[in-house]
Amino acid sequence: MKIAFTVNKTLHQVDAPPMKRLLDVLREDLRLTGTKEGCGEGECGACSVFINGEVVNSCLVPVCQVEDAEILTIEGLAKDNRLIPLQEAMIQIGGTQCGICTPGIVMAAKALLDHNPQPTRDEIRAGLGGNLCRCTGYVRIIDAVESCASNR
Ligand code: FES
Ligand code: FES
Repeated sequence: MKIAFTVNKTLHQVDAPPMKRLLDVLREDLRLTGTKEGCGEGECGACSVFINGEVVNSCLVPVCQVEDAEILTIEGLAKDNRLIPLQEAMIQIGGTQCGICTPGIVMAAKALLDHNPQPTRDEIRAGLGGNLCRCTGYVRIIDAVESCASNR
């Protein structure tokens, strides 16, 4: 099945089985490997991308559902090789963790700040509640999002 959609402002047409997961189409067909697979079951948030402005778990989305959609992945955040302030804050405050969970956390944090530019600490915690790290804490991630919000 041929399906056309936009990823990071570039129009793509892929030929893929309709039920192939968007996660796999991004990684295998488009070689956008910044989006990661953790659980593959909608539980961990590692595969988070934006579809038409809303953050979703791409492991749960069959590619047939994104015909004509606008998708944003972690690769699409930086512009002219400049990271967005949220990415800078994550680096400076040490909110970056492993390469599996960090991209999804950044996408979820961006979604949170897009909808609520000045979230409280509890709202940040709730906003990142769908993103799981199996090995360490969340304090610096929350610090980074809070710092980014207060510096806007
Ligand atoms: S890989 Fe999609 S939610 Fe875990
Ligand atoms: S799962 Fe990424 S640091 Fe724990």
